[in-house]
Amino acid sequence: MDTILVRGNGPLNGEIPIAGAKNACLTLMPATLLTDQPLTLTNAPRLSDIRTMTALLGSLGAEVASLQDGQVLALSSHDLTSHTADYDIVRKMRASILVLGPMLARDGHAIVSLPGGCAIGARPVDLHLRALQAMGADLDLREGYVHAKAPAGGLRGAVIEFPIVSVGATENALMAATLARGTTVLKNAAREPEIVDLAHCLRRMGARIDGEGTSTITIEGVDRLGGATHPVVTDRIELGTYMLAPAICGGTVTCLGGRIDLVHAFSEKLDEAGISVTEDARGLTVSRKNGRIRAVDVVTEPFPGFPTDLQAQMMALMCTAEGVSDLEETIFENRFMHAPELARMGARIDVHGGHARVSGVDRLKGAPVMATDLRASVSLILAGLAAEGETVVSRVYHLDRGYEKVVRKLRGVGADIERIKEAPTHD
Ligand code: EPZ
Repeated sequence: MDTILVRGNGPLNGEIPIAGAKNACLTLMPATLLTDQPLTLTNAPRLSDIRTMTALLGSLGAEVASLQDGQVLALSSHDLTSHTADYDIVRKMRASILVLGPMLARDGHAIVSLPGGCAIGARPVDLHLRALQAMGADLDLREGYVHAKAPAGGLRGAVIEFPIVSVGATENALMAATLARGTTVLKNAAREPEIVDLAHCLRRMGARIDGEGTSTITIEGVDRLGGATHPVVTDRIELGTYMLAPAICGGTVTCLGGRIDLVHAFSEKLDEAGISVTEDARGLTVSRKNGRIRAVDVVTEPFPGFPTDLQAQMMALMCTAEGVSDLEETIFENRFMHAPELARMGARIDVHGGHARVSGVDRLKGAPVMATDLRASVSLILAGLAAEGETVVSRVYHLDRGYEKVVRKLRGVGADIERIKEAPTHD
């Protein structure tokens, strides 16, 4: 397995291009299953998760052509040859569950493996299933698979109130509702920019949707959807991650394509900590004002609150802040696995339940550390950028799921970072 070597190398200066959003692309791609017309996605990110979704859609008989070095995805599911999403693909990526709603809506049946848990939590899919049942689907759970059937006349519109905000369940229900007979109202719906992006794409395909970005989304079902060409929205989590590079190391970095509306709550916390964030037509420019940054408290919440996917990265910043910060993780039950790894670098972090209290130290020290999940992996790299000495991050396959060309992007602003390819093992 490859490792990444990082050495603290002083302030960072320059520009970092921000890619299309992984979590938007992973719900836009299954939307091809809603129509027999071609769907083209531009500004697509080059990530292993996208390749996994491509393989899953391919296993169903959909065609996915990766063009222009992976930045354009040309999808077509004119003739599906299978309606079964196998466990061996689904277990690698939970977003695979997002093929269930579209297949059920268009073809009336689907068999999808339950995704199982993952490092950050149990992550059930009960809210996805309950939403589809409310639309008339008959679901039978057998041997780890959901066997789903729509009523003879197809899914029916329904009023669905989510007991908790769920991005994926909102996406599955939204896609299914576009072809259901009648009106569907999603209450307590997720408001993430990725939901808004999906609604924009579905509308281009002919769907009738109102209210995306608010807690109540109303969908009038139509008989069929057409094709479309849609640009994937900027990745707000990659954006926030790279905004933290100059915040931790000093210097001034412009994140090209960044938009403040995508990271408003996060930017407010950076401002509170003493980091300057300005916006212009090219993107967001972040610079660290003089002196030490201040410790700030953070509570993760559904959008528009502080994103859980930036909690680990923010913790890396707080490790050398002046004072004590309290980071409260309210979305997932086990999302502090980066804390003991940061502690190996000299961070002082006390984890109790959903709270991590970070007492800032002057400077971290480089050490061998292990990535445990996608966002934890990049928080260790951020910490290493400012640490004294050398940090070696192992299990960087986690990183490849959500960050394209991370070494090149950081070297481009002066970071001392390199990827060490694992030597091939000879029998
Ligand atoms: C999406 O996951 C993102 N993934 C996650 O990003 C992100 O952390 C999460 O939303 C929250 O913003 C993708 O979009 C592919 P949820 P999702 O349903 O949809 C519970 C990353 O790093 N829940 O909003 O799975 C769940 O356990 C990833 O890019 C149920 O109980 O998240 C969690 O506690 C990590 N039952 C909470 O709701 C359900 O049926 C929010 O989960 C569904 C969810």
